[in-house]
Amino acid sequence: MNKSHPKFLLTTFGCQMNQADSQRLRGLLASIGYAETENEEEADLILFNTCCVRQHAEQRLIGRIQSLINHKKRNSHLIIGVSGCMAQNMQAELLEALPLVDLVFGPNDIEELPLLLQRAANGKTLGSFIGKGAFDGDSADGIVLSRPFSAMINIIRGCTNFCSYCIVPYVRGPEISRPLSELKNYISDLAARGVSEVTLLGQNVNAYGRDIGLEEGFTQLLEMIEGIDGIKWVRFMTSHPRDFSLASIKRIAQLKKVCEQYHLPVQSGSNHILELMKRGYSREMYVELIDAVRENIPGASLSTDIICGFPGEREQDFADTLELVQKVRYESAFMYYYSLRNGTEAAKMTEQLSENEKKARLAKLIEVQNLISLEESRKLIGQEYELLTESAAARDQSHLVGKTRSGRSVDFPGDKSLIGSYVKVRIEKARNWTLSGTLLNPGEKA
Ligand code: SAH
Ligand code: SF4
Ligand code: F3S
Repeated sequence: MNKSHPKFLLTTFGCQMNQADSQRLRGLLASIGYAETENEEEADLILFNTCCVRQHAEQRLIGRIQSLINHKKRNSHLIIGVSGCMAQNMQAELLEALPLVDLVFGPNDIEELPLLLQRAANGKTLGSFIGKGAFDGDSADGIVLSRPFSAMINIIRGCTNFCSYCIVPYVRGPEISRPLSELKNYISDLAARGVSEVTLLGQNVNAYGRDIGLEEGFTQLLEMIEGIDGIKWVRFMTSHPRDFSLASIKRIAQLKKVCEQYHLPVQSGSNHILELMKRGYSREMYVELIDAVRENIPGASLSTDIICGFPGEREQDFADTLELVQKVRYESAFMYYYSLRNGTEAAKMTEQLSENEKKARLAKLIEVQNLISLEESRKLIGQEYELLTESAAARDQSHLVGKTRSGRSVDFPGDKSLIGSYVKVRIEKARNWTLSGTLLNPGEKA
């Protein structure tokens, strides 16, 4: 190994919590002299930050690791590491299941990475998996941002909801909020570093502050960020419909920096299934929340997560979900079929549906939602939006991609010097989820 300049390749699976953790992993690796590479062949460390929310996520990882066999044979010094939720869930078992792996550590062991790497150079290594679960060491200059103007921030770790299908509370531990004063310093430091957009993350951001005695802590946090110079746009995810109060929507509507993007996972449109899922709200309460968002926040885009084929889901329950989707008309939805996760309550339910039934329902749901997405996207043609320019377009380097406040990506012709700045575009074309547009006042930055 070239000790003066070892290289790492990091692949992130799963949700934005993992992406935020990867910002920190990159920062830690940089602090001990590692440089990042995208090329497997030259990597001394290949690290996978993993997800275990559905079986499919796990299978993808196993396939990727097995494909490294020849590479590992050629480079005896290569360290293959697995971090994140799947690592936390399987721990030592993962080393047995995947002999190519040298290092396994969980989301709460991230700060230990430099030490763990030293040990991994001498043999198979495991994290402690208990960790501090806190936010120690995560300072604004301790993270590496893939876009220097945009940062993801974990405001609350873990989850205490125990929805009956979900493995996250078992692998991420209980909710722990990061103190408000600490977040104030952290976000101010990020702004001083040139960050203008922040995305606040948690499995349930609306629970922020509950464990540290704050009332309406999430709204307080947003109000605090409103006062930080340099931060222009604030996004957040994920909201739990049960904990999003109507009063907080009214307060948030007054805040100029908070973007009009509402991801409100409904999971099912049937009260019978919502109860079995232990979501803590009814269809009627959910619809009331959607109405409140639409009434108070003009132009808000709405998206959701839906699981079909949950144990015991009858035709009528599924029809209720389809009907809800048609009623709300989400701009987009993440749709899944139910995946059994060992150790969860739903895994023990007797009325499991067959793979075919679950897949058929998912296909129907996707068909209905795709049409709605397209119809909703077409309504945007001719409208003008402010965008934060994020990157060059992957398929055409003379095009850029930016995001609207409502979270829609727009492709438009433009010069790379605009990356990181706010511009105005007019939407010209719409496909399902992709919008394309043209730059207004090309010489000027919005
Ligand atoms: N905390 C967020 C969701 C985190 S997991 C929330 O409560 O909304 C992201 C999504 O994965 C969930 O919203 C759910 O739709 C899906 N999901 C979670 N467990 C699943 C399972 N066992 N099978 C299929 N989808 C699942
Ligand atoms: Fe999972 Fe429910 Fe927690 Fe979301 S709120 S992470 S679905 S247990
Ligand atoms: Fe997956 Fe862990 Fe996120 S299980 S969805 S990466 S919290």
